[in-house]
Amino acid sequence: MTEQINPSRGRWQRHWIGTVSPLARRILSFNLMALGVLVGCVLWTYDTDGWSGLGSDIRLLSEAEVITETIEKQFSDQNSALDPQEIGAVTRDALHGLRLRKGLTIGLFSPDLVWLSGAEGSQTPPATSEASVRGKPTRILSVLKLGSELFHRAFFPPRPELLSLKEYMTFAAGASEGGGVRHHGDFLSNQGPIALASSEIVHDGSVVGVLAIIEGTADVVQHRAYELEKLLQIFVISIPVVLALSVYLASTISTPISTLAEAMETRGNLEGGNGLNSRMEIPDLSGRPDEIGRLSSALRAMVTALYDRIDANERFAKDVAHEIKNPLASLRSAVGAMAIAKPGSQRQELLDVIDHDVRRLDRLLSDISNASRLESDLVKEQEKAFELGPMSVVLSQYLAEQAAQKGVELVTDFPDQTITLVGLEERLAQVFVNLITNAISFCSFGGTIRFWARQCEDRVLIVVEDTGPGLSDDSLLKIFDRFYSDRPASDFGNHSGLGLAISKQIVEAHRGVVWAENIRPVDADRTVPSQGARFVVGLPI
Ligand SMILES: Nc1ncnc2c1ncn2[C@@H]1O[C@H](COP(=O)(O)OP(=O)(O)OP(=O)(O)O)[C@@H](O)[C@H]1O
Ligand SMILES: [Mg+2]
Repeated sequence: MTEQINPSRGRWQRHWIGTVSPLARRILSFNLMALGVLVGCVLWTYDTDGWSGLGSDIRLLSEAEVITETIEKQFSDQNSALDPQEIGAVTRDALHGLRLRKGLTIGLFSPDLVWLSGAEGSQTPPATSEASVRGKPTRILSVLKLGSELFHRAFFPPRPELLSLKEYMTFAAGASEGGGVRHHGDFLSNQGPIALASSEIVHDGSVVGVLAIIEGTADVVQHRAYELEKLLQIFVISIPVVLALSVYLASTISTPISTLAEAMETRGNLEGGNGLNSRMEIPDLSGRPDEIGRLSSALRAMVTALYDRIDANERFAKDVAHEIKNPLASLRSAVGAMAIAKPGSQRQELLDVIDHDVRRLDRLLSDISNASRLESDLVKEQEKAFELGPMSVVLSQYLAEQAAQKGVELVTDFPDQTITLVGLEERLAQVFVNLITNAISFCSFGGTIRFWARQCEDRVLIVVEDTGPGLSDDSLLKIFDRFYSDRPASDFGNHSGLGLAISKQIVEAHRGVVWAENIRPVDADRTVPSQGARFVVGLPI
C-alpha cells in the first residue's frame, strides 16, 4: 500500500487556523519587530514638545537683533551720559514704539537684572505653513502621548511645575552675559512650547540693559506633530500589509518544509508499528526554483536510492535462499534414501551425493559471504595509484600454470609504456582472475587465452579472449546476473555463478565498464559460429 501525501491538503487548517508553525511564528515576529524598531526610532527622533526647527530659531534671532539695534539707536540719539533712571525711561519708550508680531513677548532688564519693562506682540504675522495645520487632529499621537503620560505618572515622580514666561525671560537675561544675540533653546512653559533668546543692549561701550525675547512655538510643534501623525498613519497601514506578506512568506517556506517533515515523520512512526509495507512518499516540490525545491528533489532521490538498496538486498536474500534450497533438497532426499538404501555400493553412492552437496553448500556460502561483504569493503578500502604492467605479470605467472595443467596456453600482451591506474589493486586483480579462470575452464586441451591491454586516450581496455565455445545469445544477456551459471553437467555444483556479478560490481565501483562478446571474423554476422569469448574491461586513467 502506498501512502499518497498531498502537499496542499489541509494547509491552512494545519498551520494558520490551528497552531502556527514555529518557523512561521519566527518570520512573523521578526518582520513585526523590524517595523516596531522603525516606529520606535522615528518616535525617538521626533521630540514633539520641544522641537522648533532651525527656521524659526533663525527668525527669532534676527528679530532679537533688529529690536536690540532699534533700542540701541534710541540711546545713540542721546548726547550726554545717562543715569539708570534715564536708561529705564529710554528703553521703555523704545519698547512702546516697536510693532511686534503676535506670538512674541519681550522683557527688558537693567544690567543688574532688574525688570524694567515688557511688551507683547499684537501684529498678525504672515500666514505660515505651521499655522495652516493648526487644529488638524493627531489621534494616534494623542493616544501615544496619553499612554506615555500614564506610564510616567505610574512609574516616575511627578514633573515639577512649569515656569512662566517671565521666569524664562529672567533666566535668559541672566544667561546673556558675553554680548551678542543668543538663542537659549526650546522649552515648555506654562503657556505652551516656547523658543527663548536674549541680547545685551550696549551704549558707549557699556551694557545698559538686557533684552529677553520669547516666541510661542505651538504652531511649529503642532506642525511637527501633524507630520509625525502622517508618518504613524503610514506605519499603521503597513502593519496589516507586513502581516499579510509575512503570512504569505511563512506559508511559502514553512508549509512545504512542514509537509516534507510530516511525510518523513509519518514513515518514522510507521516503522515502529505495522507500516513496513507502506512506501515513504516524499511530496514532489522539485518545480520550485528554490532551496525547498532542491531539498524535495534531494530527499526524493535519497529515498529512491534507499528503496533501491532495500530492493537489491531483498532480491539478494531471495536469490541466496533459492540457491541454497537446491543442495538442501538434494541433501534431504539423499538422507531420506539412506534409511532404506541397502548397505554397500548404494549407500556409498548416497554418501558421495551428501559429500558433494555439503561441499557445494560450503562453497556457495563462502561465495555469498564474500559477495555480501564486497560493497562495504569497496567503500572502506583506500584507493591507490598502481601500475598495470607488474600486476599483469604476477597474474599471468600464477594463472599460466593453472592453464598449462589443462593444456591451455596463456598469452599476455601488455604495452611497454607505463599505465597507471588509481583504485583497489587487489580487487581489480580479482576481476581478471575471475575472467581468466572462466576462460581456462571453457577452453579445451590445446586452446589459447590472450590477456592483453591497450590504452585509448583517457581509458585503458583490458581484454581476456579465449578459444572456448563462446556465449549463446541467451547467456550474453544473463552472464552478469547473480547466480547465473551455465556449465556442463560435470561442473555442476562447483560454481556459484557469482564471479562475473562480483567482477561487474568491482569494475563499476572504479567508474569502469565491462562487457562480453563473441569472437567472430570482421564483418561476419551472428549466424557465423563463435571462435571464442571475449571479455573487455574499460577503466578510466
Ligand atoms: N569464457 C567464457 N566462455 C563461455 N562462457 C562463459 C565464459 N565466462 C563465463 N561464462 C558463462 O557465464 C556464466 C557466469 O560466469 P560466472 O563467472 O559468473 O559464474 P561461474 O564461473 O559459473 O561460477 P563462479 O564464478 O562462481 O565459480 C558461466 O556459468 C558461463 O555460463
Ligand atoms: Mg566464474
